[in-house]
This record gives sequence, C-alpha cells and structure tokens, in this order.
Amino acid sequence: MRIGILGTGNMAAALGGAWVDAAHEVVIGGRDPAKAAATAARIGAAGHGTLADAAGFGEAVLVAVPAGAVAEVIADVAGQLAGRTVIDCTNPLQPTADGLMLATTSITRSVPGAHLVKAFNLCHESIWRQRWPVYEGQRLVVPFCADDAGAVAVVDALVTSIGCAPAHCGGLVRAGYLEATAALAIGMWFAGAEPRWAFPAPAEA
Ligand SMILES: NC(=O)c1ccc[n+]([C@@H]2O[C@H](COP(=O)([O-])OP(=O)(O)OC[C@H]3O[C@@H](n4cnc5c(N)ncnc54)[C@H](OP(=O)(O)O)[C@@H]3O)[C@@H](O)[C@H]2O)c1
Repeated sequence: MRIGILGTGNMAAALGGAWVDAAHEVVIGGRDPAKAAATAARIGAAGHGTLADAAGFGEAVLVAVPAGAVAEVIADVAGQLAGRTVIDCTNPLQPTADGLMLATTSITRSVPGAHLVKAFNLCHESIWRQRWPVYEGQRLVVPFCADDAGAVAVVDALVTSIGCAPAHCGGLVRAGYLEATAALAIGMWFAGAEPRWAFPAPAEA
C-alpha cells in the first residue's frame, strides 16, 4: 500500500519503519525537509518531501504530529486528502495537578472527502519497532475507531501486515474513548501500576 506520513519524529519512524519492513511504500513528509530526509533514510522509505507531498502520495495517511498541531496540519494539506484514509494516532494529553488529562479530543471530523480513523495511539512508539509484537503467544491487538467501511479495510490490512490483530471498536464517535484509555493507562504506568492486569479474561469472571 502507498502510505504518506505527516511528521518526522518518533511515531513516524517507528510505524513508518514497520510498514517499510512489511513491504509498503512509505513517504515521509515534514515541515523541515532535512528531518524528513533523515527519517526516510533511517527507515528505508520510498521517499520524502513536504507534508503536502506525503498527503498526496498516500492511499493511507498517518498524522504523527502533536495533538495540538493536528488541525493546522490537516488544514494545510486538506486539498490532498480527498479519498484518503487519514489515521490520527495522537493523544491530546496534558499533565495537571489531577494527573494526566485530556486537553481536548483531537480527531478532526470534517476533512472533506477523507475517511478518518483513530488508531495506534495506545502503545509507546518502541512497540512498533518490534518485529513483530507478540506477547505470551498473542498478537498485539490494535483497537481503532472509524466510520467508513473502506477505511476499516485499509486499517485492517495495515495492522495485519505488521503482525498485529486489528479490532474495530466502533465509529469515530467513540474515538475519544481510545484517547481516554491512553490517558488512564499512561497515568497508571507512571504511577507504577500495571493496567493490563486490570482486565482479566471474561472466562475468569
Ligand atoms: N511517542 C509515542 O510513544 C507515542 C505513542 C502514541 C501516540 N503518540 C502520538 O503521536 C504523535 C507524535 O508523537 P511523536 O512521539 O512522534 O512526536 P515527535 O517525535 O516529537 O515528532 C513530532 C513531529 O511533529 C512535527 N510537528 C510539530 N509541530 C508541528 C506543526 N505545527 N506543523 C507540522 N509539523 C509539526 C515535528 O516537526 P519538527 O521536528 O519540525 O518540530 C515532528 O516531525 C503525538 O500526537 C503523540 O501524542 C506518540
């Protein structure tokens, strides 16, 4: 699949590298051409360029910039996104006296003609550098939210290609739950607790 990545940082390199290794064609797009070139070279991407170049290249487009920059970045490349599956992996989290809180929900629901998805926001970037993420014999599950059936199929294919198990968790109306889950889990990890042990299998209940 052709994948454009908006951003040149940790998530761009980690997920982009996984997709390159899974034989996808990846173009890295950034506001800084030198960083786009360096990230593309590091992961063996097919190319690099501006944010608009990457948006225009991808059948799937990963948005891997800070949550607060998503609206601005999407607006800048909106003309390239029609018909694309646009995947938002961002977490709009902010540390407060009450712990890690959601600043706002970051998903943009109004990109004309684009099919939006919330996915890949739950795991630390280092997980996507593993080939492939299997724990205790189970493939890593990647929950995602999307409205469009074509976008669901695209994400199913992208997740499966990197050795993981896709889990469509409903429409975009539920995307905020993925962000809240990240806030809760990351807060627990920072506090020294282990969120995975809070969810025993239904068979144990
Ligand atoms: N890191 C993780 O483990 C992880 C896990 C799950 C989700 N996420 C989410 O993934 C997103 C990216 O995280 P990251 O760790 O990859 O961040 P990062 O390493 O800091 O990279 C951020 C990228 O966004 C670019 N950027 C920042 N502001 C921009 C703007 N206004 N316009 C255009 N580009 C801009 C940066 O470009 P410059 O270098 O030019 O500033 C850089 O290429 C975040 O929203 C984060 O919440 C991260």
